[in-house]
Amino acid sequence: MTTPQPVNNPKSPGAVSAALLALLGHERFLTDNQSLQHYGRDWTRFAAPAPSGVLLPNTISEIQAIVGLARQHGIKLVPSGGRTGLSGGAMATNGELVLSLERMRKILPVNKAGRSVTCEAGATTAQIQQAATKEGLMYPVDFASSGSSQIGGNIATNAGGIQVIRYGMTRDWVTGLKAVTGTGELLELNQGLIKNNTGLDFRHLFIGSEGILGVIVEATLALTDPPRNPRVMVLGIQTMSALMQVLANCQAQLTVLAFEFFSDLALEKVTNQHSIQTPFQARHPFYALVEFESTSTAAETQALQVVEACMASGWVNDAVLSQSESQRRSLWRLREDISETIAQWTPYKNDISTTVQQAPELLSRVDAVVAQHYSDLEVVWYGHIGDGNLHLNILKPDGVSVSDFQDRCKGVSAHLFAAVQKLRGSISAEHGVGLLKKEFLRFSRTEAEIELMRGVKAQFDPDGIFNPGKVFDP
Ligand code: MLT
Ligand code: ZN
Repeated sequence: MTTPQPVNNPKSPGAVSAALLALLGHERFLTDNQSLQHYGRDWTRFAAPAPSGVLLPNTISEIQAIVGLARQHGIKLVPSGGRTGLSGGAMATNGELVLSLERMRKILPVNKAGRSVTCEAGATTAQIQQAATKEGLMYPVDFASSGSSQIGGNIATNAGGIQVIRYGMTRDWVTGLKAVTGTGELLELNQGLIKNNTGLDFRHLFIGSEGILGVIVEATLALTDPPRNPRVMVLGIQTMSALMQVLANCQAQLTVLAFEFFSDLALEKVTNQHSIQTPFQARHPFYALVEFESTSTAAETQALQVVEACMASGWVNDAVLSQSESQRRSLWRLREDISETIAQWTPYKNDISTTVQQAPELLSRVDAVVAQHYSDLEVVWYGHIGDGNLHLNILKPDGVSVSDFQDRCKGVSAHLFAAVQKLRGSISAEHGVGLLKKEFLRFSRTEAEIELMRGVKAQFDPDGIFNPGKVFDP
């Protein structure tokens, strides 16, 4: 067993290590290299993990004791969930202690009358979804990483996903949360109440805060009815402006559950990687994946009519409609497997948004930036275009170092984000700011707002122990 090393340059390292060992024991205070590498990073691959230890508390009071030690000894803490983030928000690169919630994953019985569930922050998204499904209900925030992402992390990043167009983001489903602040205080926010107009709602400060105010330890989530008979269509589309026409028509005439898009290169990468068949004989520049509720034959007929009308207008070239649950799932894989498939190229990820009505303008401005700056690179387009959210992934060519590649892409980001700023859009629609986007935050938020954020952090975390250097610099 390795002896814990001094942590994050505290005032008295030996005393800290001894106190942490006394609190958690060797099994829950890890300092071996493998654990440091594993817990010190998220799904980004642009910085090397370098925490000085990993803490695995079992209870809220242990977390409060850890925060007490952190304050006393000047230690920095990085809250850690499933580490599926894409902006480096859960990276520990500077000798911090990782505070992992993975042992705190209890889910209480679903409250059927109140249609809610309360769980500890380390429960995975999939476990919560399963608990809801068992009771005939649904937790509707969903994404490809639901098997490993944890609810605390989902809340801290206000995770979006594939059904935001119908159900909204994580923020819309959190009716209560408990968090331990940088002073060690346990806040119990909104207690699962539907109605509570008693002043400022701090719950919403913690949602999307990326761990800079404290650590989320428990949540109460609203549940809803699952959709009835969801069906999926994949449509082959010629241009991005046609894509937006199709969106408008689907929204007007169907109960849309998801409206996603991806480019032909995205489809090619996924089908090659997983030996899946493409749904069409011909290739098309873009594809829309539309999921809708098909509650009657009339609803299905309506969907077919929408597609026929879009074909007659020249917006859609080709279409397939799922005829069974397994076909629905296979069609979804074409979209959901993109992120994992392209991870092997260490992509530089852009996650930008505008209002839905401005999405055509966003797409054409982004297209111009791509044509000018990335004509020699593979660029994979996909995203939640029904929410105005585009994921633009630049693939790293072989033989180029990660840091050179990142420097080049960062240079282009300034052009991309200037276009986003002109449309008053967001430089990070759903992945958060973390480490990777913080130098660009000013493209979406004013200096005055960032200064206010610093002030809010100082209120909740006066010693700056939680997730330092994330979102903005002190
Ligand atoms: C997705 O939409 O697939 C996720 O946000 C992950 C990604 O952008 O790679
Ligand atoms: Zn996404």
